[in-house]
Amino acid sequence: MSHHDKHDHDKHDHDKDAGDRHRKRRHMLAERPTTAFGIDIGGSGIKGAPVDLVRGEFAGERVRIPTPQPATPDAVARTVAEVIEAFHLPEDVPVGVTFPAVILHGVAQSAANVDPSWIGTDVEDVIAAATGRNVVAVNDADAAGYAETVYGAARSVSGVVLVTTLGTGIGSALVVDGHLVPNTELGHLEIDGHDAESRAAESARDRDDLSWSEWAERLQRYYSVVENLFWPDLIVVGGGVSKHHEKFLPLLQLRTPIVPATLRNAAGIVGAAALAADASH
Ligand code: BGC
Repeated sequence: MSHHDKHDHDKHDHDKDAGDRHRKRRHMLAERPTTAFGIDIGGSGIKGAPVDLVRGEFAGERVRIPTPQPATPDAVARTVAEVIEAFHLPEDVPVGVTFPAVILHGVAQSAANVDPSWIGTDVEDVIAAATGRNVVAVNDADAAGYAETVYGAARSVSGVVLVTTLGTGIGSALVVDGHLVPNTELGHLEIDGHDAESRAAESARDRDDLSWSEWAERLQRYYSVVENLFWPDLIVVGGGVSKHHEKFLPLLQLRTPIVPATLRNAAGIVGAAALAADASH
């Protein structure tokens, strides 16, 4: 072996080692956990369950503890800790938490239907302090919408998917080719001089004692505006009322296909767990 050859040989070994290391690292980076934990912070209950990320289903029983009143950050964080303590979770399991407000890099920016003391609160920090774990906090509709696009009604749909949740408020999640555009807050579009959710949310149906067809008229107005602004390929309707979809979805006349969510109550927990797992690797 000439000096030259030896040099090449060494270089080759060196390149091979570097290549192996590179591949190993890529492998480590690509390895997504198969289980994570999701927590849904709602107005009446704080619910948590381990999630099987391959199937997009709960991997164990769900635990629910009533939301403390007043639902201040410290009281809620303590309840989140109680939910987590009900499980024997490995230290490094990704934990995702949903919250019904705009969440920018962990910090709550709005409080439409929650205690105003949340505005400016770093949700991830208060929960980390109470639980001793790193958590990822996301808007509740974003979590549910992400779950529907990865595992549910919008699975494998390419293009622009808009997921809306009809409940106390209207939540929205915009997903483009599988990527979530967070904090779209389309429940707060101003339509006919009103904050849209105050007229068209499920809580407005209840409050104003509307029949399904009366409520559908309000939904017609809402979704017409939304489809003319966003031109989505698909609209998915979630929230507890989506289990009665046959009472109102067929009454809507839209150009965009509109379908009920399929993950129902599990969507927030599953989506939060999935987003936390994505953030962890
Ligand atoms: C809030 C959103 C939330 C939605 C559903 C709205 O009032 O502004 O952040 O996603 O309600 O809970």
